[in-house]
Amino acid sequence: MCGIFGCTLKKGNAAPVIHAALKRLEYRGYDSVGEATILDGKLYVKKDRGKIDAVHELHDLDDLPGSIGIGHTRWATHGAPLQVNAHPHVDCGGRIAVIHNGIIENFADLRLELQNRGHVLKSKTDTEVIPHLIEDYLNKSHGLADAVLEAVKRLEGSYSIAAISTKEPDKIVCARNESPLVIGVAEEALYCASDVPALLPLTNKTVTVDNGELLTLSPQGFEIKKIRDSSVVTKKPKVSDWSPEMAVKGGYPHFMLKEIHEQPTTLRNTLRVQEHYLDLMATFLERAQEVYLMACGTSYHACLAASYMFSKLAFLGTHPVIASECVEQQGKSMGIDSTILAVSQSGETTDTLGAVMYARDRAATVLALTNVVDSTLTRISRVYVVQQSGPEIGVAATKTFTSQLSVLAQLALRVAKKRGKVSQDEMDYLADKLTELPDAVEAVIQTQDEKVRQIAKKYRDAKAFLFLGRGISTATAYEGGLKLMEIAYVPAIAFPAGESKHGPIGLVEPGFPVVFICPKDETHKTVIGNIMEMKARGGSIIALMEEGDEEIKKLADDYVEVPKGIGDVLSPILFVVPLQLLAYHMAVEKGYDPDMPRNLAKSVTVK
Ligand code: AGP
Repeated sequence: MCGIFGCTLKKGNAAPVIHAALKRLEYRGYDSVGEATILDGKLYVKKDRGKIDAVHELHDLDDLPGSIGIGHTRWATHGAPLQVNAHPHVDCGGRIAVIHNGIIENFADLRLELQNRGHVLKSKTDTEVIPHLIEDYLNKSHGLADAVLEAVKRLEGSYSIAAISTKEPDKIVCARNESPLVIGVAEEALYCASDVPALLPLTNKTVTVDNGELLTLSPQGFEIKKIRDSSVVTKKPKVSDWSPEMAVKGGYPHFMLKEIHEQPTTLRNTLRVQEHYLDLMATFLERAQEVYLMACGTSYHACLAASYMFSKLAFLGTHPVIASECVEQQGKSMGIDSTILAVSQSGETTDTLGAVMYARDRAATVLALTNVVDSTLTRISRVYVVQQSGPEIGVAATKTFTSQLSVLAQLALRVAKKRGKVSQDEMDYLADKLTELPDAVEAVIQTQDEKVRQIAKKYRDAKAFLFLGRGISTATAYEGGLKLMEIAYVPAIAFPAGESKHGPIGLVEPGFPVVFICPKDETHKTVIGNIMEMKARGGSIIALMEEGDEEIKKLADDYVEVPKGIGDVLSPILFVVPLQLLAYHMAVEKGYDPDMPRNLAKSVTVK
């Protein structure tokens, strides 16, 4: 996730306006920043790695001439946060500058094609192919808008781009596919940006650009066309009544809710993680003598789920380990034959890094899954994959958890393929299910949120909750319990349902809420048995179940339904969403701020 902004002013300098807007977009990514403007047929570019204030201090971002320009704040996906990888990117002739938010999936092919035609690409980014493609079309005497239109027809993936060129110095041309783009309309200026907050101090009149549309900002106003057939789309500005604070949260009352709602998009992004590294990682795992899955908190729950995925799909036994316990529990058994897969959203969690360093010192191979390029974890691992979730501001991990699960499922599938453990049909089936998941998650959020809110209301004063699941749903149960504890401060005990009769059942008395995760997999029948045990003691059953599961419905006091038919190893991605919503609504019901839970930090950098 990156932030993009552009403006064309009737008078005055664009650079300070862009700089101020980038500050408002900084929450979308903050590892590099850059601006480009045009004056008298010359393109000016300033960019560097680092936060906006630091780059401004070094380069004076306000000191670029001209009344038209674009700016970008970066969350690295392809290529480390280095000056050369910062946006804007330019063409060979230094006449075109482009900023981009999204992921170009076919960039490697395009890059090769461009290099074969003599283009010189300097960065490691996927974005840089875009100005070079535009350059080719501009050289074929297309106008800027047509050149951008032809260029984006070559792109596969997600993008929201803005381009300027000295050839038509009074225009900004943008295009959108999946990544957000809005226009800001004012008397003396036109703007484009990744989101409304960037625009609000400048104007409250906005127009949303939709997928598959091309936008041209010029002194004549704005024009929107369909990329497919160049037909003109007419849209009128709407007046936004968001306060700046609401706007930063995309209109949601809290970042956590916004991030829960972002999951369909972030899950789609995980289908575009860098294949090459995923494959390399699968090769290491396939050859490993023993595999440890290491992490803390929510990331540990992803590891726990992954251990079921590796076992079920690839017939590969793994050891999920809580990083802070790793040295004592497994330390002496680690060595040159061990492969560690460390999972950390931030890539900076001290306990995880400590365990990884320990394993490295014992000559183990370290692989990593993280959300932050250039985090410490990426620097100390042999191969890493970045999950592409964008910054997560809420302390409670939500979208980053489901993304971790999606990447780990893809990894397990690749290992399975290498080990010859799944048929092509099974592979294709699961790959299809992975692509269906974003819509299924969207459906859960859209249809079940109100129901979950009512459940939160009903159980608002419960003193404790029990979360139970079997098989891979054990990980979902743990995650649901952690969410409720960390933001609503409700004691939550999570167990594999089979273990409940070995202790936790002692807690259950009439009205005690017991949340059961009940996908229709091979655990279904046994879970029903566990539900009966709890009901017999008066427990109030809150069941998460697949649509139309009448057996469970009959037994539940309250139930939440998710779309049916998502494969069992993928079920945590779907079933965890109502649990995230439950924790969120409980916190709000109790008057707590879910974004800033007491005593917790987003990244835990102490032992
Ligand atoms: C989850 O909601 C928590 N904020 C916490 O458990 C978190 O997952 C843990 O601290 C690990 O963080 P990491 O993924 O950045 O390493």
